[in-house]
Amino acid sequence: MFKKEVYIKRREKLRETVGSGLILLPGNDESPMNYADNPFHFHQDSSFKYFFGLDFPFLAGILDCETGEDIIFGDDLTVIDFVWMGPQPTILERASAYGIKRSEPLQKLVEILQENRSKGRTIHFLPPYRPENKIKLFEWLGITPAESHKESSPELVRAVIAQRNYKAPWEIEELRKAADISVDMHRTAMRMAAPGVTEAEITAAVNYEAEKVGARISFPIIGTINGQTLHNHYHGNTLKSGQMFLLDAGAEIESGYAADLSSTVPVDPHFTQVQRDIYNLTLDSHNTSIDMLKPGIAFKEVYLESARVIVRGLKDMGIMKGDVDDAVTNGAHALFFPCGLGHMMGMDVHDMEDLGEIYVGWDGKERPKQFGIKSLRLGRKLEPGFVLTIEPGIYFIPELIDKWQKEGTNKDFLNFDKINQYRDFGGIRNEEDFLITETGYELLGKPKPKSIEDVEAEHAKDLPL
Ligand code: GLY
Ligand code: MN
Repeated sequence: MFKKEVYIKRREKLRETVGSGLILLPGNDESPMNYADNPFHFHQDSSFKYFFGLDFPFLAGILDCETGEDIIFGDDLTVIDFVWMGPQPTILERASAYGIKRSEPLQKLVEILQENRSKGRTIHFLPPYRPENKIKLFEWLGITPAESHKESSPELVRAVIAQRNYKAPWEIEELRKAADISVDMHRTAMRMAAPGVTEAEITAAVNYEAEKVGARISFPIIGTINGQTLHNHYHGNTLKSGQMFLLDAGAEIESGYAADLSSTVPVDPHFTQVQRDIYNLTLDSHNTSIDMLKPGIAFKEVYLESARVIVRGLKDMGIMKGDVDDAVTNGAHALFFPCGLGHMMGMDVHDMEDLGEIYVGWDGKERPKQFGIKSLRLGRKLEPGFVLTIEPGIYFIPELIDKWQKEGTNKDFLNFDKINQYRDFGGIRNEEDFLITETGYELLGKPKPKSIEDVEAEHAKDLPL
């Protein structure tokens, strides 16, 4: 947690930007796995935590834009609860560490909301993503779950993004810590990858690397020999000679700040020549993208250049053909690079995705619809304080190759005979996290092994780190 003044100022600024009405920020509840007393690991709503700091369930907060009062709502635990959970401070005791001076039982929230509504005051809330928060909005305000996104407040969405998009120095410090832990998660995987080791063993060790220092994973680990499946959460395979292992994993630390890294390592001591060629091409695209990072550049332009580098390299290998610019304009690169180049990152690994990428990543502008670039979560001009990922990859997805070949999609730019020689290649991705500074960029955390030489050298080492 930061100094209480940080939270007081954040709330003040939010009230000022929204200007009028009441801002309602529900926290998250426990989410049952199979019955109420057996919940998933609790994750607080990040906007709630950003403004109120409190990291436990069954709370809601309001900010009154006219009176300037901030109130936290929740029901204090009783001695009977302490039997199971140990003694707990009151909600107000905990909230006062974040500069909050008033707490009330949840029942009072309903009264206050209804009273303010009857006076015609606007109740601003963010688009809810958890079913229980949709139900609360129905119980408190009569807004049905189906209407809750439509009825949410664009002013509040924009105001929250206008604060959370710009990371303060103390937040950057937290992001660096999360990145450092994540680098060790990746170095662990690099050292473990070998024929006969299972994906489950590696992902368990990666998870352990986060948990042993009190962190946890910022999203379910992608740890797979099938790197061509972009969000592959299956860990049931055993690594075999000739394959590569792709890890996409990051840590989230207690303060809520996240990291997100990807690496690809050979199962054998060295990459094969074919793997080296594709690996180095993804790295060219990666490094070209990083070199372009600075305030004022539109991330969409960085994405397009990263795609051009890939097309140029694939042309040299005889996999693609034709004019590079035309190939990218037509989206031909998306056969191999069907996703975006990166996304904003902060307290959420895809920062504020719940508030809508159109506002977070595209500054309210329409997102392109073409296959490939339509998955680009970030397109807007970069500004100092933004934190984002760079993660180009090259993937050979047999099902997509077959579909495009059958339909003749972008056939002027694709040599399908050659492409089919790579159909079992898999996928390669590197990913790192960057802060946009006044003059350019800064890598967050210590550098992870990324060049072929550094990855193979890390791979050759034994555990422990
Ligand atoms: N790390 C997973 C993703 O960025 O989608
Ligand atoms: Mn990512």
